[in-house]
This record gives sequence, structure tokens and C-alpha cells, in this order.
Amino acid sequence: FKTLGADVAGEVEQIGKGVTSLKLGDHVFGDIFNYGYGAIAEYVCVPVEALVLKPENISFEEAAGVPVAALTAYHGLNKYGAVRAGSEVLINGASGGVGTFAVQLAKFYGANVTGVCSTRNIDLVKDCGATDVIDYTETDLMKLDRKFDLIIDMVGNLSLSDYKKLLTAHGNCAVVGFGGMSHLMSIGLLGGKRIKMVDFKSNQKDMQYLANLLENKDISTVIDRSYSLEETSEAITYLETSRARGKVVIIPDKG
Ligand SMILES: NC(=O)c1ccc[n+]([C@@H]2O[C@H](COP(=O)([O-])OP(=O)(O)OC[C@H]3O[C@@H](n4cnc5c(N)ncnc54)[C@H](OP(=O)(O)O)[C@@H]3O)[C@@H](O)[C@H]2O)c1
Repeated sequence: FKTLGADVAGEVEQIGKGVTSLKLGDHVFGDIFNYGYGAIAEYVCVPVEALVLKPENISFEEAAGVPVAALTAYHGLNKYGAVRAGSEVLINGASGGVGTFAVQLAKFYGANVTGVCSTRNIDLVKDCGATDVIDYTETDLMKLDRKFDLIIDMVGNLSLSDYKKLLTAHGNCAVVGFGGMSHLMSIGLLGGKRIKMVDFKSNQKDMQYLANLLENKDISTVIDRSYSLEETSEAITYLETSRARGKVVIIPDKG
């Protein structure tokens, strides 16, 4: 691929022959992963199918933080389980890029959301809509004797037997983050139908669904830090600490 980055938000500056769904000057956002990455740049050239119109009431910065993280949360909640009003949902890694969207979306669907995070992020996770927060620095989740209808795991520090112990009889687990090769292999080989790795191909329909939620303020982007294009390596280094609170965004023309 050209450069890193899957999420884009920006203004349409040129249009290919035959494109009628967008016009010059439109404000758009999307996930360009399917088209070879390259989002960390001043310009991208992508098929129109990668983009949807950005709601005018959110900034480019907010929009840029949405696509892959929110789509991952959306698929984890809807395609790997069936979140509904009253579902008991556990979000492990609730304060990160995917987690903050997962908590908001689960809350939007009417679930009872339990988020796992550290002390400094308790208020953030509650603000996202969690009814209950487990501080992993104080409390061992596995000793709580609680069961969940759906687990979304962003951290990958739970074993297959942990997932099974935490799930209700018909519960499901969507694994987003991995704790290493053995974790990955155990889920792939032994997770069965109920414990699965989240995998999806983004499309305009799902992006438009998220755009509507953003426009209605049903969900919003939690932005931890933004960096200029020149500061990309610092941004990546920060992300790699696994301490980000919400999303990290690159703004090409940041002053
Ligand atoms: N971001 C995306 O768009 C995306 C999309 C698909 C898949 N993924 C994958 O999903 C995983 C999570 O990504 P992410 O972007 O959400 O991560 P992230 O933003 O890097 O997650 C950082 C957060 O994780 C929390 N955390 C760290 N250790 C924890 C623990 N033991 N228990 C609970 N929370 C913990 C940190 O909070 P504390 O500092 O308080 O511990 C921090 O807020 C990664 O493996 C990533 O590759 C990410």
C-alpha cells in the first residue's frame, strides 16, 4: 500500500468520469481500507463507493475518527450477536477507539452496558453510556460471577475459557483485539459459532447508517489527540502505547 491509514474525511476536489452521486466541494468521509489504505495524506483518490456525505453538523476531525472504529463496533454488536434492549453487554477495552463507539452504540440499542477500563477512564466510559464500569486495576472481572449476553473484546487478555465462563447460555463474543498468536489460534480453531473474530468489509450502506447516527447525535467521536501530517510518527507511537482515550486523528493542514 501507499501510506498508512484507512479512515478519511475531506472535501471532493476532483471527480471521475461518470460519477453523479458526488459533486465538487461535497464534504465526505469513509473507510478506504478496501482500496489499499493511503489515508494519511493530503489527497486520496478512491472509488466513490468508499465515501458517504459527512453530516454538516460534525467536523472533519470528528468524521475522520469514525469509519473503521465505529464499523468494527457496529459489526461486533450486530453481526456477531444480537444486541437488543435489555441485553447485558460487556465491552472490554471500553475507553479506546473502538470501545468508546461500542459503548455508545450498545447504549443506543438499549442494552445494559458494562465497560472495562482503568481508573482514569471511568468517567469517560460512563459519559459514553455505560451503566456499570469495572476498573481493571481494582477488580478482577473473572471473580465477579457475572454473565453477559454479548462480549466485545478489544483487549485480547481473556482466554477462551474466560469468555465461556462470562457468557450466558446463548451469549456471543466478538473478538476485536488479540493477545498474541495463541489467543488468535484458540479463537479461530476452537471458538465455534459463539466466539468469533470480527471481520467485515465496509460498505456505503453501513457508513450511511453511522452518518445518520452522527447527524442525530446518537453517537459522537471521542477524540483524544490530533496531530499534523508531519507528526504522523508521533501519532502512531502514541497509539502503540495502547493508552489512547478514544481516537487519534491526523489533520493535514493543522497549524
Ligand atoms: N481503532 C480501530 O479503528 C480498530 C479497528 C479494528 C480493530 N482494531 C483493533 O482493536 C484493538 C483495539 O483497538 P482500539 O483502537 O480500540 O484500541 P486503543 O484505542 O489503542 O485502546 C486503548 C485503550 O485500551 C485501554 N486498555 C489498555 N489495556 C486495557 C486492559 N487490560 N483492559 C481494559 N482496557 C485496556 C486503554 O485504557 P487504559 O490506559 O486506561 O488502560 C486505552 O483507553 C486493537 O487490537 C486494534 O488493532 C482497531
